[in-house]
Amino acid sequence: MYYPDEVIEEVRLKNDIVEVISGYVKMQRRGSNYFGLCPFHNEKSPSFSVSQIKQMYYCFGCGAGGNVFTFLMEYENYSFEEAVNFLAQRAGVSLPQADYSEKARRNESKRARLLEVNKAAAKYFYYQLRSERGQAGYRYLKERALSDETIKKFGLGFAHVTSDDLTRYLKSKGYEDKLIMDAGLASFDEKYGVHDKFWNRVMFPIQDGNHRVIGFGGRVMGEGKPKYLNSPETMIFDKSRNLYGLNFARTARAGHMILCEGYMDVIAMHQAGFPQAVASLGTSFTAGQANLLRRYAQEVVLAYDSDGAGVSAALRAIGILKEAGLTGKILNLEPYKDPDEFVKNLGQDALRERLEKAENSFFFELRMLERDYNLKDPESKTKFYREIARKLCGFSEEVERENYIEAVAEKYHIGFENLRRLVVSYAAQTGMTAMAVRPKSGIQKKADAAENKKKPQKLLLTWLAEEPELYPKIKKYISPKDFTLDLYQKVAEKFFEDLENGAFNPAGIVSMFSDEEQQREVAGLFNTKLMKLSTKAEKEKALHDILVAVKRESLHYFTEQAGVDVLMLNQMIEGKKALEELSKTHISLD
Ligand code: GTP
Ligand code: MN
Repeated sequence: MYYPDEVIEEVRLKNDIVEVISGYVKMQRRGSNYFGLCPFHNEKSPSFSVSQIKQMYYCFGCGAGGNVFTFLMEYENYSFEEAVNFLAQRAGVSLPQADYSEKARRNESKRARLLEVNKAAAKYFYYQLRSERGQAGYRYLKERALSDETIKKFGLGFAHVTSDDLTRYLKSKGYEDKLIMDAGLASFDEKYGVHDKFWNRVMFPIQDGNHRVIGFGGRVMGEGKPKYLNSPETMIFDKSRNLYGLNFARTARAGHMILCEGYMDVIAMHQAGFPQAVASLGTSFTAGQANLLRRYAQEVVLAYDSDGAGVSAALRAIGILKEAGLTGKILNLEPYKDPDEFVKNLGQDALRERLEKAENSFFFELRMLERDYNLKDPESKTKFYREIARKLCGFSEEVERENYIEAVAEKYHIGFENLRRLVVSYAAQTGMTAMAVRPKSGIQKKADAAENKKKPQKLLLTWLAEEPELYPKIKKYISPKDFTLDLYQKVAEKFFEDLENGAFNPAGIVSMFSDEEQQREVAGLFNTKLMKLSTKAEKEKALHDILVAVKRESLHYFTEQAGVDVLMLNQMIEGKKALEELSKTHISLD
């Protein structure tokens, strides 16, 4: 964070969250909250709420949440600093330049300069495509059946054949060599000096969610290698956290997103009326990109090439989508190679039909698996069924697993009971406690354990946020140190301090964190729905249990650390005493 906390608070207090968000989302007042359709995911009934009192927003559907800064970071894709700047300007707060640390200012202005030079390059390419010299590029795009409107919408351009064309232009506009190279638009070698990275190619500017050009892809016209040349990663171009086409797809609200392999596929899809299409950026699909997609839809339809490479890429992507908690479906493009060729040949309606029939990713996986076995050979067939059983063990929820066993049994003409027995026997053989335990990947197991540890800490913070008057009762037992997760501890420190001073300021706590994901998590803390406990006795019991659980986890944590540190040992001994005492104590809410 580069501004002093007081300044950030001032900016926040002068920008009422209801007013700011009203500029983006249509909302209606309900009690002390405002409700509207969530701009971060697709929904039909409003679960997006803005609280005037808390000065926070939260979506009960997708978990998006935060304060007024977070909103702009998520909606406009601003960095934290950009959000502060924007709101400072909106409210007429002048920001102290001197408090901007030197390094921060340099980074910030470097980012701005990189965006600027990319924009200038995109404009130049765009202009070239429409000039005499760009005819070859324009013809190529036309041959690929792109309309003028599409070419314009995606800002497509052309890099001329001379290899210092862009560099010379940018320099004439006052951009220095270093910046042009740092943006990945040029490089240096002994023989040619500073020369363009892209020449004699049609150019695809890559935009972030906020339509800002962060990099380029350049395609040869016709055959030639490499087919595509992409900008290298730079300070503003993170290939694992952006998606081609997302600037349009984020507002498509189709109820699902379509994930393609190539830029041309995305463009062809949008032209055919499917603005929910995106693609990764010349690298394989990542968990970061899955998280990005999760903000907009729960279901992702994979429109990967139908060749071998496309299938393995799709199988990989299915795994990543699953880990992110998204539903994957597979689009069948046969007999065509990719979405681009499909729409060119069969058109929009055929594609819509295929979208409706997109295959469940589990069945797709089985179908691909089946190709490795000879079902005419009993030995091989048995192996195939065992493999199916193994995969069925992957469904953690019993109802879901039973449903899949049923569906698979029917599809592959295996007796339901036979298949079920096979699944049980597989689970038993591999040491999984029959079907009760959910077999999971190592990553998932770790994630679950961490989630369980977090839970009581989270509940306690949430409860305190809902009923700050509880604070005097619990402070005897719990201190911020008992929150073993770094983020929670920071929140608790500030929150306890505020409560101690009789202040309650959750939205201010959110802006202690400049990272969007962290802000979202903190907002979640202040907005989780607590179980409705009706009687006082129930509440007292619940509070007691939560306190004990937090204390126990904290003791466990300090015990683990105690081997290495005397201070921790003291902490542990104290913790143990406190836990014993707390376990015996009745917490009264009177
Ligand atoms: P067209 O062949 O023009 O239809 O392109 P496409 O968009 O269908 O691309 P394709 O399916 O061949 O490749 C998918 C994506 O992989 C492209 O959009 C690029 O991002 C990337 N890609 C393809 N070829 C190359 C290459 O030679 N080098 C690099 N770095 N990336 C490539
Ligand atoms: Mn293609």
